[in-house]
Amino acid sequence: MKHLIDPTDLTRQETDSIIALAEDIIAHREKYRDSLKYHKLATLFYEPSTRTRLSFTSAMMELGGNVLGFSDAKNTSVSKGETVADTVRVVENFVDVVAMRHPLEGAPFVASRAAHIPIINAGDGSHAHPTQTLTDLLTIKRELGHINDITIGFCGDLKFGRTVHSLIKALTKFDGIKIILIAPPELRLPDYIKTDVCDKQNMPYREVSTIEEVIGELDVLYMTRVQQERFLDLEEFERVKDSFVLDCEKMKGAKKKMAILHPLPRVNEILPEVDEDPRAAYFRQVANGKFVRMALIYSLLKWKDDPEHASPERTDLYKDSSLQCKNPKCICNHEKVDPLFHKTDDGTVRCAYCDSKIA
Ligand code: CP
Repeated sequence: MKHLIDPTDLTRQETDSIIALAEDIIAHREKYRDSLKYHKLATLFYEPSTRTRLSFTSAMMELGGNVLGFSDAKNTSVSKGETVADTVRVVENFVDVVAMRHPLEGAPFVASRAAHIPIINAGDGSHAHPTQTLTDLLTIKRELGHINDITIGFCGDLKFGRTVHSLIKALTKFDGIKIILIAPPELRLPDYIKTDVCDKQNMPYREVSTIEEVIGELDVLYMTRVQQERFLDLEEFERVKDSFVLDCEKMKGAKKKMAILHPLPRVNEILPEVDEDPRAAYFRQVANGKFVRMALIYSLLKWKDDPEHASPERTDLYKDSSLQCKNPKCICNHEKVDPLFHKTDDGTVRCAYCDSKIA
């Protein structure tokens, strides 16, 4: 059985196969209409969402399946103190697959350790958003015709942006990728992604301070929202929120064939005047999200009993009750879970749930 908790849970072949299937679904929608009849998906959303929850729902309905779940955990037994693990142990009696969004980092991982059905991470805190990554990869493929050999600029909140972290991880599986990081000092990409992901996989990156100085080099400009809910310090949020706004004037310096992506929702980082530009791909990206989630659900259920597509056993994890993760948004600081850690190649100890550095 395969869970999708982190983009690295999918091999390059599995990623390619899901993208190819999504393209086939787009071309032959009627062929897949009843392919998951009598199957059920639970959407367990502990945090607000428009695109991800509704696209999962629409995806399952279009495959002929049914959907149940919640979009506000306050109306469930979570409000009485039920843990993520127990919730999943209950819900798996009613459905075939679960998509979970949670504000606490590592919650979908906890769910996957308890479950006997596939668990899909639909976004956990600032940590990961692997189905947005599949959406982004499909969009790049459809907009440019290929994913290899591109220069991609990530702009905005690179510190807390889980979509950015996940897409950078996934891009290491492709060839000839160059990354340009466009962010204010307060919102720069975390060091562990630069060292453990980019450096380790020889994926070149550089950091700049403005869109204008690099826009002409980019095949993809990935804009992100500066998310107020990710800030512990609201003054810091007020100071940076208007930085890095894309408008038609800046677009004059861009290549003719370039794609602007954004996971959405946007606030003011892309002015509405840019929407009419043919390179503005962000609403087409939303449409792709439904098709790639159809392909993902279909694949995970098809792979369920196939050992070739099983989630690999995490032999790198070890228990150590003398260590403590200091991330206040990690599930391990809110629910009773095993004290699990892993070591990266350079000897750094990291939390197994949120990947925060421990020592
Ligand atoms: N892109 C994304 O995750 O959007 P939602 O928060 O609306 O699901």
